[in-house]
Amino acid sequence: MSAVYLLLLLLPLVSAQTYHWGRCPTPKVQPNFNLQQYLGRWYEIEKLPASFEKGTCIEANYSIRKDGTIRVLNSQFYKGKVTVAEGTAVIPDLRKPAQLGVSFSYFSPYAPYWILSTDYTSTSIVYSCTSILNIFHIDYAWILGRSRFLPPATVTYAKNLLTNEGIDLFRMKATNQTGCTDN
Ligand SMILES: *[C@@H]1O[C@H](CO)[C@@H](O)[C@H](O)[C@H]1NC(C)=O
Ligand SMILES: *[C@@H]1O[C@H](CO)[C@@H](O)[C@H](O)[C@H]1NC(C)=O
Repeated sequence: MSAVYLLLLLLPLVSAQTYHWGRCPTPKVQPNFNLQQYLGRWYEIEKLPASFEKGTCIEANYSIRKDGTIRVLNSQFYKGKVTVAEGTAVIPDLRKPAQLGVSFSYFSPYAPYWILSTDYTSTSIVYSCTSILNIFHIDYAWILGRSRFLPPATVTYAKNLLTNEGIDLFRMKATNQTGCTDN
């Protein structure tokens, strides 16, 4: 089966996502990443579209479970109600602590979840990319904030960082954080 034919079969599956030809870029990540400081609540400010995130008021809360695993609790307001998804994050290689993996199902593999840059107290820039047969890649990017709104200059800084790493932000869009229950 030719690669192009295979790609045509796969495209409908990924059309809701952002995909590009070629392999994943390999951006630099946060040096000396400190998970402990990263825990707690992060609000989604902007993102590359993901089929599992269509709502408003999107946020995530990271905490350590009693068994030592990292709990990821995502919530969003969608179609009139709050929906919550619980996942697990891992650090597959302790020498690369900023390169996490996240899974939201027992059956799905850990997707890359790389912290490219964070100051822990206001902003985090996250990137996830998966290569498919080295022919094309699907990627996600998130700009997260410790508050529901970040200063425009901070968002611009984050976008420039992603762009400078070769990440295409053409489909990047802001997450609606207005009218949420706590504001
Ligand atoms: C995040 O989750 C932890 C553990 O379940 C909880 O104690 C904490 O209150 C949550 N924080 C926020 C801001 O939701
Ligand atoms: C954001 O969500 C609020 C509450 O659901 C809604 O009233 C508002 O129109 C939305 N804003 C945009 C830009 O979609």
